[in-house]
Amino acid sequence: METGAELEPAQRWLTSPAAAPAITAAAELVQTRSPLAAATAFAQTFPELPAAHRAAALSAATLDSAAQSKGYPAGLLWTRTGLEQSTGPLTAARRAHILRNAGITSIIDITAGLGMDARAMLEAGLVVTAVETDPTTAAYLAHNLGAITQPAADAPFNVRCADSSDPAVLAELRGISPEAWFVDPARRSASHDGNRSRPERDPELWSPPWSFVEDLRTTVQPARVAAKVAPGFSPAEHWYAEWVSVDRTVVECALYSWPVFQSQRQCAVWLDGWHVVQASDVGQREPVDVGSGPIQSLLLEVDPAVIRCGALIDLAEEIPGTHLVDLKSSWLTAEHLDRSERMQALVRAYQVIDEVPSAPRKLRDALRARGITAAALKTGDVHIDAAAVRKELRVQDDDEQAVVFTKAGSGNRAFIVERIR
Ligand SMILES: C[S@@+](CC[C@H](N)C(=O)[O-])C[C@H]1O[C@@H](n2cnc3c(N)ncnc32)[C@H](O)[C@@H]1O
Repeated sequence: METGAELEPAQRWLTSPAAAPAITAAAELVQTRSPLAAATAFAQTFPELPAAHRAAALSAATLDSAAQSKGYPAGLLWTRTGLEQSTGPLTAARRAHILRNAGITSIIDITAGLGMDARAMLEAGLVVTAVETDPTTAAYLAHNLGAITQPAADAPFNVRCADSSDPAVLAELRGISPEAWFVDPARRSASHDGNRSRPERDPELWSPPWSFVEDLRTTVQPARVAAKVAPGFSPAEHWYAEWVSVDRTVVECALYSWPVFQSQRQCAVWLDGWHVVQASDVGQREPVDVGSGPIQSLLLEVDPAVIRCGALIDLAEEIPGTHLVDLKSSWLTAEHLDRSERMQALVRAYQVIDEVPSAPRKLRDALRARGITAAALKTGDVHIDAAAVRKELRVQDDDEQAVVFTKAGSGNRAFIVERIR
């Protein structure tokens, strides 16, 4: 690794092979004992280590254990912020395979962090140059890229500790002539209390700022830039965008400056494999084709990524006998349950028990009359304060039973439903 900055001795030691036995021993202790007991036992086992090295090993082991619970492999080096910002293993692997399938064989990751995207790209067989501005993160990045054991990942990699938005650095990177560039801007800023970072909503305050990424898109040759942005970001039309959902949470919006997939907007939802829904071009379709109709026996709650990419109507068209509850609603309604794996991934089905008034007082009476004391409140479609409504209804939260609030014409409708799967 080319790095200009010096690390703390304990951090440098962590990246050396000499630290491995101590980190392994610390990992066992932090998983089985309280922090204090683990520290005491560790000091007894490694009395010769300086206190700063012992603290570093215990911290590395604690973060490694937290990372493993998020699905990352064991044995990587983490910082707390780096772990928060890292792409999840499934999502990183998806991006790497999209790039590989698009014929990309070399890439520069200009904001590599601790290397979770870079690792996936290496594992997919790409030659990777990984650039990271923070010296500690860059040192851990080099360790993490070197720790890949998968035999397919035999392509070379190069780690650079540098500010990739610096014109001189950028000029050097251009000289490498990669087939594509990848940017995952840091979207966290230090909070005013000084110890926790908080998400930054203004893309111009990301590092590097979004305008830098747009400039890169128009100045690199070949013009292939991939980026990772927050799920709530609204990309300009020239980007091919895919919203990615894991465990019914939209984890990112993945952008590509060139056509790596057919539709300009799509989503990918994970359930034992990726399920993609493409959004057809809004101008090419009549939205009323599968518009509203009577409520049938099922209400279908669609994965949020489908809604985010604008493919709700496309999904309704895909499921025979299904239509929107209303053109303003995010709920679909159907008579029969499609039990295919794809539909299990894309929708959650609820049996409609009854339509009830949506006004809180009347709704409370309706719930009482039916003996309902617990229900999830599905309020995503309507502008109501779910916590205040729950208080007024005096119901506990629930997994199986729910009240769905949705839009209909100029007003709201509410339904008591029961989860089918
Ligand atoms: C969101 S993290 C990247 C996470 C990475 N994709 C992963 O999955 O592990 C962004 C990283 O970019 C680094 N960074 C921000 N601005 C940079 C710049 N101008 N040059 C190089 N690195 C930068 C930050 O220090 C941070 O580690």
